[in-house]
Amino acid sequence: MNILVIGGAGYIGSHIVYELNDAGHQVTILDNFSTGLRENVDARATLVEGDMQDLTLLDRLLDGEASGSAGTFDSVIHFAALKAAGESMEKPERYTRANLIATMNLLNLMMRHGIKNFVFSSSAATYGSPEYLPIDEKHPQKPINYYGYTKLVIEQTMEWYSRLKGLRYAALRYFNAAGYDVQGRITGKEQNPANLLPIVMEVAAGSRPKMQVFGSDYPTRDGTCIRDYIHVNDLATAHVKAMEYLASENRDLTLNLATGEGYTVLEVIKEAERVCGRPIPHDITDRRPGDPAELVAASGQARETIGWKARHSDLKQLVESMWNVYK
Ligand code: WQD
Repeated sequence: MNILVIGGAGYIGSHIVYELNDAGHQVTILDNFSTGLRENVDARATLVEGDMQDLTLLDRLLDGEASGSAGTFDSVIHFAALKAAGESMEKPERYTRANLIATMNLLNLMMRHGIKNFVFSSSAATYGSPEYLPIDEKHPQKPINYYGYTKLVIEQTMEWYSRLKGLRYAALRYFNAAGYDVQGRITGKEQNPANLLPIVMEVAAGSRPKMQVFGSDYPTRDGTCIRDYIHVNDLATAHVKAMEYLASENRDLTLNLATGEGYTVLEVIKEAERVCGRPIPHDITDRRPGDPAELVAASGQARETIGWKARHSDLKQLVESMWNVYK
């Protein structure tokens, strides 16, 4: 199939582009390189450098003939968004523009060009604080940060467009994405990371003197927060299967992408010390506002509908695949 991947030079998008090409699809990437990296772009893809908020560019790109790509696109996979939960509470306008307005404009242009197959990066952040665990797709969605809210509004808009305009969408709710390509093809590192794993790696590699553990008084096995980490290669296979499912089954999908296993912050640090063979200096500090003690997902729905199972998301592979890049 002929696929447009928006944000295909990003940390997650670049892994999906490799997987799509490996599966024999034709891929065009649209990326403005605000956070994407050229070194992570799969050479087999067609690269269009530009901003999805440039509606003239996007309209021409979706009108395949004009842009010379092999006809218009069979599917659009959309990764380009701002994703820092904390920042979204200080600068909501940025998230309104980059996440909400940009995606609504994209959906309208897709409808204009008759492109109905859409795979969207949603997030566990749409759930907010867990009311039960593991979190399944029926869990109430009460986001506790503006970033999660933007993802929820887009999910609800896709449902309306499915009913009114025949949009076929997959809302893929990632839990905590981590790891690097197990084949070592992607080596460009995220800059100024806010997430746990890259921060642990920067300390292990010596580019960051030490790190903080945000709270050790949670009601968990060692007092630190538990999260459900999912390897980007596993995210990639899920996206390809979801896109192919939309085309063949002609039914919408809303899926958690997670493992159902959780690891605490200290367990991640300990595994990194073992894999990297050196101590990871860390101070235990106060809790970070908004952090739930535990976020673990039920991932049965993805297994049943698209036959997807995480293969690289155990802590050892997550840390080893990252250390191969950071060392
Ligand atoms: C994980 C755990 C921290 C850094 C966020 C977004 C979520 C999603 C994934 C996009 C927490 C602890 C972290 C550090 C620490 N993003 N931690 N010291 O908060 O679970 O989810 O990223 O979809 O929307 O909210 O991920 O990696 O920030 O934190 O102790 O230096 O590690 O307190 O318990 P989080 P995270």
